[in-house]
Amino acid sequence: MTAEDGQPARVNFRSALRAAFRATLESLAADGGVTISAAEMPGLLEQVRETADAKFGDYSGTMAMALAKRAGKKPRDVAVEIIHRLQAAPGFSDLFEPPGDPVGPGFINVRVKNEALAAAVTRAVADDRLGVAAVALPRTVVVDFSSPNVAKPMHVGHIRSTVIGDAIARILRFRGHHVITDNHLGDWGTQFGMILWGWKHCRDDAGFAADPTAELGRLYRLVRKVADAKPDELAADPVAAALVAKHPAAGREVLAETAKLHEGDPENRALWERFMPVCRAEIDRLYARLHVIFDHTLGESFFQPMLAGVVDDLMARGLARESRGAVGVFLGGEDDPPLLIRKADGAFLYATTDLATIQWRLAHWKPDRILYVVDHRQSGHFEQVFEAARRWGVDGIAGVDLVHVAFGTVLGEDGRPFKTRAGDTVGLEALLDEGVERAAAIVGSGDEGRAGMNDDDRRHVAETVGIGAIKYADLCQNRTTDYVFSFDKMLELKGNTAAYMQYAVARVEGIFTKGGVDREALRNARNGVLVSDPKERALALELLRFGEALEDVETDSRPNVLTAWLYDLAGCYSTFYDALPVLKAEGSERDSRLALCDLTGRVLRKGLDLLGIGTVERM
Ligand code: ARG
Repeated sequence: MTAEDGQPARVNFRSALRAAFRATLESLAADGGVTISAAEMPGLLEQVRETADAKFGDYSGTMAMALAKRAGKKPRDVAVEIIHRLQAAPGFSDLFEPPGDPVGPGFINVRVKNEALAAAVTRAVADDRLGVAAVALPRTVVVDFSSPNVAKPMHVGHIRSTVIGDAIARILRFRGHHVITDNHLGDWGTQFGMILWGWKHCRDDAGFAADPTAELGRLYRLVRKVADAKPDELAADPVAAALVAKHPAAGREVLAETAKLHEGDPENRALWERFMPVCRAEIDRLYARLHVIFDHTLGESFFQPMLAGVVDDLMARGLARESRGAVGVFLGGEDDPPLLIRKADGAFLYATTDLATIQWRLAHWKPDRILYVVDHRQSGHFEQVFEAARRWGVDGIAGVDLVHVAFGTVLGEDGRPFKTRAGDTVGLEALLDEGVERAAAIVGSGDEGRAGMNDDDRRHVAETVGIGAIKYADLCQNRTTDYVFSFDKMLELKGNTAAYMQYAVARVEGIFTKGGVDREALRNARNGVLVSDPKERALALELLRFGEALEDVETDSRPNVLTAWLYDLAGCYSTFYDALPVLKAEGSERDSRLALCDLTGRVLRKGLDLLGIGTVERM
């Protein structure tokens, strides 16, 4: 697609520059005396990045140093040669100024032409994709996330998978990929054995009638203690202790209940079907509050009919064999623990289901990539499952990327895994309630918020700010590290928080109300955006980097790249807005600055939306 001025409708300056560098490096490899293999090209092109210090230019390429070493030349000479060839690369001179001499040991600094920048940002203002081009090669990506074990109380750890997975899915979708989300519920595991046993031996009918979820939760917690029979736990819980005394074989009976369910025992199956809607209603309430929607919720139970076949097939191919009654896939040496796929009592395992799930997804969805957004403690499991699936040679396995998108633990302010005072891992719902309650305290504290808000407005704003704070606090962390959960920090109005970003949107957009400006008309007028002042130029360039930020999120499944970029954008906007008159400017300058404000508001809003975070008109 091209616009009237002959430029592509949506430019990604970094991609365009990387394409020019690619052509340059290819020509250098062809007759410039530097060997560059196709395999190293992507790595070299990644060395074309935003310049750390804007005074040197907008982008810089740093590959001359590495290339010079192998060619036995001086880095500066290689840089000069690259600069020379770069200017002849197709498309380069339309978008970029002729580069100056290399800086330092051989940095190649490039500046976007002001005309190209102004044209691109003008088009972005009129664009419903905000100037972000869709990917040239859309992929089919399955995102497996959230996936709690139902009938057990959900805890704060589950929020990480839910929030990170949802953000990744939204971002990939906006980039133009075909995304399929699947909530791989643990709906068939040993926790049901506990509940079934509890149901049969110690249920409270009145309790179940009054609050089925609470009763199932009680049974789970109680029977877990009974089955584990740990002296210290029993000492603290006389009800559990009495049950252990009465049923000394409870541990084995619990396992037998699970086995009966798996074998199709009609009584256990009927109870399971009775419990499932209760469990689903519980988690669906949370998803509704978090605004998370899944394309599929197949769950582990869906794959049960396939498990025996998986084991048989792996055995027939000689990949799995019996060892002490159990069946395992042997991936390493004789002494390395195998990946167990059937226990001695005939029960299938978590890994068996994951192998069946891979086979089913490849057959039905034909994905190019499957992302598993799961706690880092499961990395060993996924390594083994992925390796077993590859050796198994399931149809389509050669063409699929299987990726464990791991994340760290949520810690309390004491640095230990987050718990309430009572010592329980915090229930998710109570956590959301507390976030909203605390957010209510800051609602109306901003300038724009003081103007009358009624109770409904306040409740809506508190919910949006409270839930947004919890999500953002999680997303802005490097996902692989543990992070400290702190309501005080996440609700601060300054710094990289959702509240600050939501407030920024409300402020930017408040201008239009204040000035009585029709944003729709402003966009449709397609007034040329001016980039003459350095602060206008910096803001315009930052706005056009939205697509780059999203691309970088995809590369490594890291939503924090987007939060960091949005925070920078908000800073860039403040610098612009504090220094230059907008509503008080005149003529084309006023139109241009308003157009930049309009685009900033929309980009911030869209960025937050891609993180699953809502915005409000007033705080
Ligand atoms: N139910 C598991 C848990 O709560 C997570 C499942 C993740 N997905 C998967 N395909 N294994 O630990």
